[in-house]
Parts: sequence; structure tokens; C-alpha cells
Amino acid sequence: TSEITGLHTNEEKYNPYSWYKEMRAKSPVYFDQKQGVWNVFLYEDVNRVISDKDVFSSKRFQQSRPFHSIINTDPPEHTRLRSLVSHAFTPKMIAGWEPRIRAIATELLDKVSGQTHMDLVEDFSYPLPVMVIAELLGIPTSDRKQFKEWSDIVVSGPSSTADIQETIDRRDKAIKELMEYFSQIIEEKRKNLKEDMISTLIKAEENEGKLSSEELFGFCITLLIAGNETTTNLISNAVYCFLENQTIWEELKRDPGLIPHAVEETLRYRSPVQAIPRRAKTDAEIGGFHIKPGQIVLAWIGSANRDEQKFTDPDEFQLRRNPNPHLSFGKGIHFCLGAPLARLEAKIALEEFLKRYSSIALKEGYQLDPVNSNLLYGLKSLHIAVS
Ligand code: HEM
Repeated sequence: TSEITGLHTNEEKYNPYSWYKEMRAKSPVYFDQKQGVWNVFLYEDVNRVISDKDVFSSKRFQQSRPFHSIINTDPPEHTRLRSLVSHAFTPKMIAGWEPRIRAIATELLDKVSGQTHMDLVEDFSYPLPVMVIAELLGIPTSDRKQFKEWSDIVVSGPSSTADIQETIDRRDKAIKELMEYFSQIIEEKRKNLKEDMISTLIKAEENEGKLSSEELFGFCITLLIAGNETTTNLISNAVYCFLENQTIWEELKRDPGLIPHAVEETLRYRSPVQAIPRRAKTDAEIGGFHIKPGQIVLAWIGSANRDEQKFTDPDEFQLRRNPNPHLSFGKGIHFCLGAPLARLEAKIALEEFLKRYSSIALKEGYQLDPVNSNLLYGLKSLHIAVS
């Protein structure tokens, strides 16, 4: 969609905010003729499109077998799945993982200790979430390397258009292998239930007799896809904000208690998810425009989070912004199930990173390297000098 956004260079891709501002001012509800898609940019409209489930459906794509995702369902199916899987995501359970998450973050930073340079993404923000999810799901340590390889393939996009078919084939193969692997894991865990997430889901399945093995598998893959790259990008985007504005870094060094505020403001200021698609179920009206049933509406949360009608000085990163009603985890019935986990991972990652280094700077010659997507937002690499 760089044709509609007009964002071509890496600098432009990582700074879509002036484009959003222009759209909010001139064309806040915009129909892209070529794609046949509606685009909405104002906070109030975005909020409504992502939360009004009766008018805007989440069934926007054909569900591709063999895996089926909660993100792509409407009630009543969504209600049933959500009530089952929420057993594995209670705030108490998530908080209980804190020591293990901290141990993983420390282990990753130990690997690069003594170095004067690092690629924050490759060395830290990328491996962290996948190691955490492997641990949460209860994947045996001996299988983690293979698990990471599969999940890297499942999550990665094509590096160029010519590679699309090859990427799809590799992805299908990895999904098939993961499915066989998870079937074995699920069988073993059925015999020997533990405290991990898969065991918790099996217990939910047995109590309510509703979550099938296929759904259980689909949920595990959804966690990889929905949770890994977004959390990587949140951590990298936060560090990029500190590099841009060193006073934030200094303030956080003085008072690490402000780190959760830095996480919230990064979510608003550089949201890992920039847009959420929905499909109109019925006729709808937004800003005087008529949306027909079946049409796709793209809700730009990256723009909503900078809407001057909702936030004062939206283009400033304000550590103490309060309230901060950003829409980065969505809104309504699909509100991110992993939000407490993502917040905890980012908090621990930044705490350990800030403890480790007294100063950070962009490595000389570093070329901004944004993720190649309009919907997801982050960096593929972030080379920094550390001391
Ligand atoms: C849903 C963002 C991390 C699991 C969502 C939605 C957003 C989002 C915007 C709503 C999608 C919609 O309305 O269609 C993020 C961001 C993250 C993050 C920005 C990191 C900073 C995670 C993690 C997990 C996770 C760590 C799990 C391990 C899910 C699931 C849903 C979801 C299962 C679907 C919920 C439902 O449909 O009811 N996320 N997410 N997310 N997220 Fe996250």
C-alpha cells in the first residue's frame, strides 16, 4: 500500500505520522479505489470500528486450515474460545512468570556483555519473546532451538515479492511440522499435567469439554504470530525513543519506577500495530460516508494515537502522560489477550537493559531499518554503541 501512503524511503516508513496528520485534516475517511478498502484516521472513528462488533466483523480473511485463529472470529464462537483461553492468561498467572522472564532477559544480555556494540533486535528484543513463549507453553529445553526455527519461519514475511511462493511453501511446511510436534506435546501433557500454559488449556478443555486439539493447536500458533513480533517491536521502538530523546533515558536511569510509563507512551507514540482491518456486516455510516456490507475498513490506530483532538501535544513523547487512552492493544471483545504479558516482558527487558548500560548511542553509519509493513511497525535491526 505504499501507493496510497506515499511512504517509500526507510525514514518515511518509520515516520508515517505526517501522512496520518494530513489524512486527519483533509480526508479522515478515505476510500482507496484501487484496493477497494476504506481507511479511517480519527480516534473516535477508529475506536468505533474496532469495538462495534455488531457492525464490523473480525471475519475478514478466509480461515486457512489447518490453523484457525480467535483473532479472526465473531461471537458466539469468539465468546466460547475467549472464555476458554483466558484461563491461561490470568494476571496472577502472568505475574508468576516474572522471575523466569527476568532470567531469560539477563541470559541474553550476558551473552553480549563486554561488547561495545550490539544489534538490539538480533541480540535482545527478537529472541526474548520467543524464548518466553516456549517456556510458557512448556516446550522442553532440548527442543527450544528447533521450536525457534519453526516459529521464525511461521512469523517471517517474504524478503521480496519474488520470494512469496517460496515463503508460503516454507511456512506451510513449518506449520505442518509444528502441528505434528504439538500433537505429541499435547498427548504427553495429557498424561502428565504441569503448571504450563498448554496444561492449563487442557484442563480448561476437560472441564468444559469444548476446546478441541485442533483449536488448542490453532491457539498455540496464534500466540506465536500475535505475540512475538509485536513484543520485539515494542522493545526496539522504546529503545529508539530513548535514542531520539536522551533525557528520557536519563530520567529512567534516575527513576526506574517510571519504566511502565515509558512502555505505555511507546505504545502510543510508536505503536507496534498501526492498523486493524474489519469487514462491514451491515450498512454503516462513518463521517458522512456510506460503507456497504462486505467492504473492508482499515482502522489506523497509529493515527488515532496521535489525534490532536484526543491527546495534547500528540507528537511529543511525554513520560508522564496521564491519562493515556491509546488503542495499541485494540478495544472491545478482541482486546489483546497478551497485553499483561507484553507489558511485563517490555518492563523487565527495559529494566535489565537500563541496569546494564550507563549510556547508549546509534552506531555510526546505522541506516534506519524499518519492518516492511504498513500494519506492523518496528525495526529489523538497531545497531547501537553501548557503554
Ligand atoms: C489481539 C496488539 C502482544 C495475543 C490483539 C489486538 C491487538 C494486539 C491490536 C486486537 C486485534 C483485533 O482487534 O483484531 C498487540 C501488541 C502486542 C501484543 C501491540 C505487543 C506489544 C501479544 C502477546 C500475546 C498476544 C504477547 C500472547 C502471547 C493476542 C491474542 C489476541 C490479540 C490471542 C486475540 C484476542 C481476541 O481475538 O480475543 N493484540 N499484541 N498479543 N493478541 Fe496481542
